[in-house]
Parts: sequence; C-alpha cells; structure tokens
Amino acid sequence: MHKTALVTGASSGIGLATARALHAAGYTVYGTSRNPDAGNPEYEGIRYLPLELTDPGSIERLAAMLPPLDVLVNNAGSSQMGAIEETPSEKILELYETLLFGNIRLIQRVLPGMRARGRGWIVNVSSLAELMPVPCSAVYASAKAALHMLGTGLRQELRPFGIRVVTVAPSFIKTSIVQERLHCDNSPYSDMIQSAGRIRDAEIASGSPPEAVAEKIVKIVGMKNPSSFYPAGKKATLLAIASKWLPERLREWAVRKRFRLR
Ligand SMILES: NC(=O)c1ccc[n+]([C@@H]2O[C@H](COP(=O)([O-])OP(=O)(O)OC[C@H]3O[C@@H](n4cnc5c(N)ncnc54)[C@H](OP(=O)(O)O)[C@@H]3O)[C@@H](O)[C@H]2O)c1
Repeated sequence: MHKTALVTGASSGIGLATARALHAAGYTVYGTSRNPDAGNPEYEGIRYLPLELTDPGSIERLAAMLPPLDVLVNNAGSSQMGAIEETPSEKILELYETLLFGNIRLIQRVLPGMRARGRGWIVNVSSLAELMPVPCSAVYASAKAALHMLGTGLRQELRPFGIRVVTVAPSFIKTSIVQERLHCDNSPYSDMIQSAGRIRDAEIASGSPPEAVAEKIVKIVGMKNPSSFYPAGKKATLLAIASKWLPERLREWAVRKRFRLR
C-alpha cells in the first residue's frame, strides 16, 4: 500500500535525515521549512512546503495543501539556554509555540483524515533533556516533557481509531540546531550559561549522526505494537534507564559534574 508522510523541519538535521529515510523506504514524503525555495520545490524526492510553527495561520495553510497522511513526524524545533529569572515571557511563549502549541495545532488538523481512514502514525520528536535537563535549559526541557506527556495521553485517545502515537527522544545529535543564548549584562548566571553552553556544544559536535534517529523512526512506523517512548542516539537507552532508576541526588550530582556546576 502506498504511504504518505509529513516531516516538519525537514530542511536539515534529524528532519532531513528522516525525510530521506522515509523516501528511501517507499513513502511519498512532504517536508517543511520556514523558507522553502519557492512554492512546492522538490529536493531528493522530498516535496517542500512552508511552515512557521509559531504562526497558526501558517499551520492552517499547510494543512490545506496536504494530501491524507499516513505518518506525521513532529520534528521541527530550536532551543534556548538561559536562566528562567532572566528569560522574557515572549521568548518562553515563542519556544512553547514552536515545540508544543504548533505541534498540537498540526495534530488537530491531520487527525480528521487519519481517523476517517482508520490508520495513522504521529511521531513526536522530544529530547532526552526532558528526563535530564541541561542546566539553564528548563524552558526547552519543560516543553519537550509536555510534548511527551501529550503523546502519552493522545495515544490512549486515538488507539480505538487505529492511530498510533510515539515519542522519540534523541540524546545529543550532531546537527546545527539553533540555540539562542539569553542572558542579561552582568548576569549572575553568565558563568553557568557559558560553561554549560560550551559543554552542550561539544556534546552535540561529538553526537550521533541524525541518521541514527531517522533509522529508528522508520523502524517504529513499521511496527505492529510500538511502545510509547523510544530513546535514540549514543547512550540514549542507558541515560533513559539511569534517569528512571538512579536516586535523584545521584542523578543531579552527575548532571552538575558533567556540566561543571557547583
Ligand atoms: N540535535 C540534538 O542534539 C537534538 C537532541 C534532542 C532533540 N532534538 C530535537 O530534534 C529536532 C530537530 O532538531 P535538529 O537537531 O535536527 O536541528 P536542525 O538541524 O536545526 O533542524 C531544525 C528544523 O526545524 C525547523 N524549524 C526551526 N524552527 C522552526 C519554526 N519556528 N517553525 C517551523 N520550523 C522550524 C528548521 O527549518 P527551517 O530553518 O528551514 O525553517 C529545521 O529544519 C528538534 O525538535 C530538536 O529539539 C535535537
């Protein structure tokens, strides 16, 4: 049976690798970018459409252009690093619009088609940061944790309609993901943000290739009985187990030690 997939944020990194892998697996693939070259350009067999997740109108326009989907991969995203005390509320809202509210709106728009056909997959790309937040990235981690919990709830709601919902949580992956650093002049958090930022950048530079996540997603959407949560990338399973079973003090100590915090 011929299948169609939409991958958000398919211009680079995990999204591009996933779009390529789904195309290689025989899917007709639509990918999104905020700046597709023009109209509906095709690149490596992927059909690009415009999407700005912080703009509800853009989500509506995308939905109107889409054919019925078998798979939706909610992948697009960016990141921030800053202390909560100093992060302007507009910046918090912007990241939540990108990582959570935009995904909810898109899910709402594709569900009627999936329900009518009695099948579909929603794959939400979260992050292992939702289990073990990098210091000064609480907004990012909380949006990803909310996306995971949304999926956990949605899964039960959609099961009777034949629609599967899965969360994929990558560890550090070698991409050029944008991370906005937010801090004030003379901030008491500056040293912490700079030190944690340096280590986070080094982890990403030596992270797994995005294809590791893409391969996992392609495998998942071929499963009969998928679990609700899949870690992906180097040490991801180990970290997910550690975050669940290590005593909290030990877990927090390990994060402080890794990010050289007091
Ligand atoms: N890299 C990691 O270590 C890592 C780890 C865990 C989770 N993740 C998650 O994996 C996902 C993909 O990230 P990546 O590392 O592959 O980064 P990336 O290469 O920068 O890809 C991000 C994609 O999201 C799109 N995007 C960004 N902001 C958007 C917005 N406001 N509206 C619509 N599209 C937007 C970008 O498209 P355009 O710029 O073309 O619009 C780009 O295609 C993200 O959700 C990220 O949080 C990454």
